[in-house]
Amino acid sequence: DRSGAELYRITQRRAHVEILPGTRTPVLGYDGIFPGPTIESRRGRPLVVRHRNELDVPTVVHLHGGHTPHEHDGWPLDLVLPAGDDRDWTPHHGMRGEVARGERDYRYPMEQRAATLWYHDHRMDFTGPAVYRGLAGFHLVRDEVEDELPLPREERELPLMICDRAFAEDGSFAYPAFDEAMRSLPGVREEWMEGVLGDVVLVNGAPWPVHEIDAARYRLRLLNASNARRYRLALSVPGGPDLPLTQIGSDGGLLAAPVSHDAVELAPAERFDVVVDFSVLPVGTEVTMVNGLGAGGTDRVMRFRVVRRAPDDSRVPDRLAEVERLVVPPGARRRTFRFSRGAVDDHTGWTINGRSFHPDDSHADSRLGEVEVWRLVTDVHHPVHVHLDPFQVLARDGGDPGPADAGWKDTVDIRPAEVVDIAVRFTDYTGRFVMHCHNLEHEDMAMMATVRTT
Ligand code: C2O
Ligand code: CU
Ligand code: CU
Repeated sequence: DRSGAELYRITQRRAHVEILPGTRTPVLGYDGIFPGPTIESRRGRPLVVRHRNELDVPTVVHLHGGHTPHEHDGWPLDLVLPAGDDRDWTPHHGMRGEVARGERDYRYPMEQRAATLWYHDHRMDFTGPAVYRGLAGFHLVRDEVEDELPLPREERELPLMICDRAFAEDGSFAYPAFDEAMRSLPGVREEWMEGVLGDVVLVNGAPWPVHEIDAARYRLRLLNASNARRYRLALSVPGGPDLPLTQIGSDGGLLAAPVSHDAVELAPAERFDVVVDFSVLPVGTEVTMVNGLGAGGTDRVMRFRVVRRAPDDSRVPDRLAEVERLVVPPGARRRTFRFSRGAVDDHTGWTINGRSFHPDDSHADSRLGEVEVWRLVTDVHHPVHVHLDPFQVLARDGGDPGPADAGWKDTVDIRPAEVVDIAVRFTDYTGRFVMHCHNLEHEDMAMMATVRTT
């Protein structure tokens, strides 16, 4: 790229991939693969990702967890229209954004900590079906702080994208409706009000995979990329206790100090970066990653088979990184956001403070650099995601949030009837951003709000 930024090119196209043995699944793929290619970047080195849309639907690319100016954040109306298609795509209600034809560059400053990010489609009203059909990939940010830690690396660092899918008999992904019709059929909407679930869990696009490993420490970057399913992941060892998961990072990168968990719970879009010590196991052991929230086929995720002993000089230090603690000043602005079912146009949908998403209707005008306290209140489970900057969880129902909420988060699961307080601080970029429920069907059913930074 002319500006000296590193350039990645991605072509969005249809492809067929073998997911279930002997069948071919049509996908919408970044570079025709599912998940999309893993992008790696370094803190302080700007990156341009040039997306070409060779699909037959408009797309929008969002870098989830990216600290990105408005123009490149994947505003839900900033469409990339299909190459060679000169139709005039008007999002519903006639709202429009900055439309590109065929191709556009997304410029990322990458002025942010090392972390596990991901990129996915973010088109208004159609994010659920687009992601379900394949438009999601990892983006790993690295930096010097992390480089200096003796953590497991290279083939012992495994990004694991976990998502569920339902399959039709011919092997295609079975998403209940893929078109505008979904919006006018209250019956269809009602059935999928809680979001679309599949009965097969995939890890990096493969069902029930087995990964051969050394008897050594591994770093697992866990991402829940499901539309609506939540997981409680543990590592089960035949005839022995579960292996502990040592959490080193969350959505926004390294924690100050490691936290040990028996299991970790991931709502859609959450990431847990954990280190697991397999060296305590004899060669031949098969460890199963189980999902305590699943049933039938969804209670198991993948297997790790220990195939050899091997040297390992990695470890998890007691101190990982500096983590700034957001301080809430007296007189800080406080806002309450209620996530609930409500009327959206002429049917029921999902709302924030009783309103459904309208891009021009700002729910919060926030000043850059000021710490605010947001109170998130829900009826049922809603994983709430905020764009532009990560936040910190202050309290759940007024009490200590607990170790699973440690560090910088960009998505927090609000449990039924729970009240969660978060400290939010936007920095660097003015403009319009969104915050929304990351249950993708809820998002598509308008549970999204505009936040304007000034
Ligand atoms: Cu991962 Cu606004 O999304
Ligand atoms: Cu995001
Ligand atoms: Cu929701």
